[in-house]
Amino acid sequence: MDVEQFFDQVTTVRMNADRSALDIIDQTLLPGCIKRVELRTKEEIWDAIKKLRVRGAPAIGVSAAYGIALLSSKIPATNFESFYASFVALKDYLASSRPTAVNLFWALNRMDAFVKDKKEESIPKIKEALFEEADRIRDEDIQISLHIGELGFGLLRDLKKDGQEIGILTHCNAGTLATAKYGTATAPMYVALEKGWAPEDMHVYCDETRPLLQGARLTAFELHSAGITTTLQCDNMASILMRSGKVDIVFVGCDRVAKNGDVANKIGTSGVAILAKHYNIPFYVCAPSSTIDLATSTGEQIPLEMRDPDEVCEMWYSQRMAPEGIDVFNPAFDVTDHDLISGIITERGICHPPYEEAFRGLGIK
Ligand code: MRU
Repeated sequence: MDVEQFFDQVTTVRMNADRSALDIIDQTLLPGCIKRVELRTKEEIWDAIKKLRVRGAPAIGVSAAYGIALLSSKIPATNFESFYASFVALKDYLASSRPTAVNLFWALNRMDAFVKDKKEESIPKIKEALFEEADRIRDEDIQISLHIGELGFGLLRDLKKDGQEIGILTHCNAGTLATAKYGTATAPMYVALEKGWAPEDMHVYCDETRPLLQGARLTAFELHSAGITTTLQCDNMASILMRSGKVDIVFVGCDRVAKNGDVANKIGTSGVAILAKHYNIPFYVCAPSSTIDLATSTGEQIPLEMRDPDEVCEMWYSQRMAPEGIDVFNPAFDVTDHDLISGIITERGICHPPYEEAFRGLGIK
């Protein structure tokens, strides 16, 4: 399968043909089973985001945009005031599904501003326009990932030495499954393939990413399916791997970037950044500008989701792997301090410290 065939097969999120359902790949079933599911009700959409059937910051944003368009199309109101009241209730409900990825709120707020702008138009026209706006959010996401990929590819090209593979470490899944296409942290590798690099020019090391194994189940699946040389390791093996000299660069995604450049991403990311600094390996965060939240001054203010203890003790085992009643610490995200980050790759350019100034320089508001 070449990279284009791969992208055709793995469409993370879309509207179904008659716009009656949000159609997603159920990521909780991967890699064993590629199954699409159709979500029709607000509860089904909320639950799919909460349970990580669809996950990854940009994909959550695209799903929320399509979700609110779909749910709004069923609002029975005939005047704007009552239509908008129902819209806001749906928006608030979807926004309560997960707390950390800012794209969820960003996409819903964008749809909200769009509706308010159309208040003089008929309700059927507004409903149609909401689907079109969701399509635009998806299409823009593809372009954003592509630009991030091109900038990241530039970094790979600078590292390339004849006849040698480049070692890339990534954590969690910031791949095509986490976006509309290309991914963010994986985009440089997919762009490299599209530009004619051989799959063996790169060697991607995927952290398995406890406790939900997005690295093992999703990133390793994606990259391996796309033909890229891929090795999976447990999270606690990253240090020995880096020490062995096999990692030339780290690319990770993010769920929210604060104004000072602190980054919330999947639990374990900050540990990878600390290791990378120790071993003098460049550590890059790939961030669509929609993930940069200038209303949040530092990582301290980013709400970090805490999840069910069963994910640590039971979920992947045929029998429980911890004593009954044990207290469990299970944060889904951590914060990487900005001074551990070599650069933040946005679709508008690569930002270097001081980040606040760099974001402003790229017109990120
Ligand atoms: O809990 P998840 O699987 O939604 O967490 C995903 C991540 O942390 C990703 O790295 C992040 O959302 C970036 S996706 C391009």
